[in-house]
Amino acid sequence: MGKSPLDELKRRRRQVEAGGGEERVRRQHEAGKLTARERLNHLFDPGTFTELDVFVMHRAAEFGLDRMEIPGDGVVSGYGTVEGRLVYAFAQDFTVLGGSLGEMHAAKICKVLDLAVKTGSPVVGLNDSGGARIQEGVAALNGYGEIFRRNTHASGVVPQISVILGPCAGGAVYSPALTDFVIMAGDTAHMFITGPQVIKAVTGEEVSLELLGGGVAHNEKSGVAHFLTANDGEAIRVARRLLAHLPSNNLEEAPLREAEEPADDAEDLRHVVPADPRRPYDVRRVIRAVVDGSEFLEVHAAYAQNAVVGYARLGGRAVAVLANQPLQQGGCLDIAASDKLARFVRVSDAFNLPLLTFVDTPGYLPGVAQEHGGIIRHGAKILYAYAEATVPKVTVILRKAYGGAYLAMCSRSLGADLVLAYPGAEIAVMGPEGAANIIFRKEIAESEDPTRARQEKIAEYRERFANPYQAAAMGYVDQVIDPRETRGLLRRALAAVRSKREGRPAKKHGNIPL
Ligand code: HXC
Repeated sequence: MGKSPLDELKRRRRQVEAGGGEERVRRQHEAGKLTARERLNHLFDPGTFTELDVFVMHRAAEFGLDRMEIPGDGVVSGYGTVEGRLVYAFAQDFTVLGGSLGEMHAAKICKVLDLAVKTGSPVVGLNDSGGARIQEGVAALNGYGEIFRRNTHASGVVPQISVILGPCAGGAVYSPALTDFVIMAGDTAHMFITGPQVIKAVTGEEVSLELLGGGVAHNEKSGVAHFLTANDGEAIRVARRLLAHLPSNNLEEAPLREAEEPADDAEDLRHVVPADPRRPYDVRRVIRAVVDGSEFLEVHAAYAQNAVVGYARLGGRAVAVLANQPLQQGGCLDIAASDKLARFVRVSDAFNLPLLTFVDTPGYLPGVAQEHGGIIRHGAKILYAYAEATVPKVTVILRKAYGGAYLAMCSRSLGADLVLAYPGAEIAVMGPEGAANIIFRKEIAESEDPTRARQEKIAEYRERFANPYQAAAMGYVDQVIDPRETRGLLRRALAAVRSKREGRPAKKHGNIPL
């Protein structure tokens, strides 16, 4: 008697599920990596992953591919739930021809991207691939183009998260770059458009794979990646945590949680922000003292550390938190911080997350390198992003808010709905020292004791302008508050502007300075 159809189905499934076979799976594990299916099982709630396109086969014939079976065409795709919510995902299978991307591999990824957009569900891509399948030539390249176009069209519609768990080389890097968040795992993730050998041949530079495109390089230097984790499992857990703070699509709100008080040892905010404007402190202490459970999922933590961005909850509702970091370069705004803040404003606005901004900045960073590097166009991104955002915007001025940086950090004039200030806030065109030097230059020069005269003029300026009351008198600051009341008043402020609806004139699209 022949095999039953059911037996045949099982046999075929087992064959595909074996991926590249035991030996390659063993090598994958030895390299400290999980297999594609193990990764998907980590991502999804237990037992919820449903695989699609199990039996998709390549149809390439060149270079012996016609005689080759490529299980699943090197990628596992499908859907499942993450904390009960529908999510689409794909995982490239390095055990199968190095996870290289051929025509049908790309078609499987495109299918989940299309389904995610049609159903308004996030997409998570688990990347581990040698790049375009060399034997398939332009069909593989075309596959990438199809993915890039879909990534772009999905941008701002559904959250897209890229987890890099192995090589991601050549043009392949541009799919993650087009998504909202890039998470890199440990020593195994590498991203570059050309590897060390090509670089040596073209420019003569010698660089290791790790220094060129490892997790540290892209988290600290290039800013391409937003998270660096110890291993695969942790990278996938970060993806789950991010999803918990995001809505499924641009028409929904992020999921609600029980409101939770900050941790027992939350700090007394009267003592965290030093009165002396020159003394640094870690602004994350302020954030943790204010948000639910003191839990803050910092994004882009290693890049442009003079700014801090991340997700948290206030009264159970997800918020996007942005801040200057006085611990690094005094919290000034420079090119990298501008890019980091602007991008975070835009992704959060796209997904309906209120913007909560903590301000303590002496201004934009002066310098030839900054000017020639384009601080004008990069700095303009923050202005553009905040002014463009239509979500509720609440700002707290903790201490310094000077000049263009005061405006940039979500001032009333850029569209903040409510602005709170600490009593020690200094809001002015520039710092008292610089201001006194300019407007009292003559008096200081002509006085008998210029040093004393200078100090007096600085004090005079500080008293007149370097406080929150001039701004409060003009209604640019809505409330000057006792720092101990920050959490309670922010909960109220966010509740007071939650139902905000704001439109912009219809247009094809704006032109953010790049
Ligand atoms: C076809 C590939 C492949 C590829 C790897 N393999 N990459 N097959 N096309 N792009 C195959 C290998 O031949 C090998 O098959 C198996 O996958 C495992 O690869 P290894 O080299 O044994 O693994 P490892 O030593 O870990 O090295 C991994 C690697 C290396 C660093 C990724 O394989 C590599 O350099 N691959 C080529 C990378 C590359 O140049 N890709 C093209 C980039 S250009 P066997 O059967 O021998 O075990 C590109 C353009 C995209 O992507 C443009 C879009 C716009």
